[in-house]
Amino acid sequence: MLVDEIVDAHVLVIGSGGAGARAAIEASRYGDVVLVSKTIAGKGGCTTMAEGGFNAVLRDQDSTGVHREDTLKGGAYLNDPALVDLLTREAPERLADLVRWGAVFDVTDDRQVAQRPFGGQRFPRTCYAGDRTGHEMMMTLLDRLDATDTQLYQEVSVVDLVTGEKGAVAGAVALDRDGDPILFSADATVLATGGGTQAYDISTNSAAGTGDGFAMAYRAGAELIDMEMVQFHPTGAVYPYDARGRLVTEAVRGEGGILLNARRERFMQRYDPDRMELSTRDVVARAIATEVLEGRGTSRGGVYLDVTHLPAERIETRLPVMLEQFLAYGVDIRREPMEVAPTAHHIMGGLRITPECRTTIAGLFACGEVTGGVHGANRLGGNALADTQVFGKRAGEFAGKTQEQSGRVDPARVDGVLRMLDAFFEGAVSPADVKKDLKLTMWNQAGIFRSAPDLRTALGHIRRLADRRLFAASAANLLDCCTVRNMCTTASLIVRCALLRPENRGAHVRRDAEVATDPATSPFGHTYVSLAREGIERREVPV
Ligand code: FUM
Repeated sequence: MLVDEIVDAHVLVIGSGGAGARAAIEASRYGDVVLVSKTIAGKGGCTTMAEGGFNAVLRDQDSTGVHREDTLKGGAYLNDPALVDLLTREAPERLADLVRWGAVFDVTDDRQVAQRPFGGQRFPRTCYAGDRTGHEMMMTLLDRLDATDTQLYQEVSVVDLVTGEKGAVAGAVALDRDGDPILFSADATVLATGGGTQAYDISTNSAAGTGDGFAMAYRAGAELIDMEMVQFHPTGAVYPYDARGRLVTEAVRGEGGILLNARRERFMQRYDPDRMELSTRDVVARAIATEVLEGRGTSRGGVYLDVTHLPAERIETRLPVMLEQFLAYGVDIRREPMEVAPTAHHIMGGLRITPECRTTIAGLFACGEVTGGVHGANRLGGNALADTQVFGKRAGEFAGKTQEQSGRVDPARVDGVLRMLDAFFEGAVSPADVKKDLKLTMWNQAGIFRSAPDLRTALGHIRRLADRRLFAASAANLLDCCTVRNMCTTASLIVRCALLRPENRGAHVRRDAEVATDPATSPFGHTYVSLAREGIERREVPV
């Protein structure tokens, strides 16, 4: 196989979700930018599917200090405090950018951006556009991107990063929709590939959430942190089968929705009597899973989420997507409760970054869900959209300011990637079969409740799956093989890190936890994993 096309730029941005689009907009102020999207920009990825909102401090009664404290407490104090400072301080400016560029958020009677309560926050600071906030953001960002000179490659999938003659990341090899390779070379590369909870059987992620960025960066030698921290959103759809796991926004609870078990008990009373349904997601997801495991769930394995006590007009105006989505499933949420259960939603871990969004390898920047550290052990709802904008802008800016040229891409690296692709034509196993097996393994053995024996069994199985020789019948199937390979790598990073953390912290619960710790004073810091090393940091002083 030979490279079909070579494209040069000052900055290469990989991923066209909220973080990637924001990074490209910013980087385009400094030089030529190429943005590569594996989907049609704005149609794939998770930003456009994000429903509930964007956290930003906008009112005098609130403060960035309180937003910071809520984020650290919600993250079980595993967050990187410097990144949380930036998130909370810069979110209001990034929201203002969106409004200036034309995003239409819901407003109050006095024309101020409206805010709703979300879990784990002491102030209603989640800004929203009904329950299609991410879509509104994404459309605005694409319009703005259109006004720059960014060159957009759509339905082109990056398969590996490549280094240059100076050893720094100098671009990437990608496949177009026919499976023909394209080489991108750049002085700086921004990874904004989003998350990877498609590695789980039940997930809110779009089909694009396959963890490509985690896997590619790992293979390139970057260090990742806290990969064990996988957020299970408490409320995913339970039926119909094809809609399993689809997001039922936290805004439903923010607007006053209540959770009931099959006995119609408001069970959050037992798990967090103060915050009830607006407790943090780790707590609510475990509560629902416990109700179901202990036999108090519905026959379909969920619980009820009820808004029938709210005025119909409020449901129609604040939750129109939910109303429409459930009507399509045959449920009128104005009159009947929804059935919901936890669904894999967000990976809090990811690439270790500095406040300038530099990763641990030269030439590579990262932003958005592919990074770790911002959300610690559990993300607050509404902080992800803010994260995409704050760190998307920073990644674009610092990548754009790169002075040094990366030099020529090392041809041996490119050959290595092309040989790897060619080998798929000689494979024997269907990627679809491996994917199915992987997703069930992760759901059953690395889910909400974990144990060392389960995790070890899962890791052994994932390694065997990763060793299978995946088969591509034609060039157009190469991408399936690359994707499944990335899913196996992401899954193994999650499980390896889960084995490294011996405590219960945020979203990570080991039924066999060897050590009881208080998150605020835990001696454990980040787990880390790279080609060179893996382990868990020890902390002297609490945050
Ligand atoms: O529930 C939701 O609307 C999701 C929001 C988020 O993950 O931030």
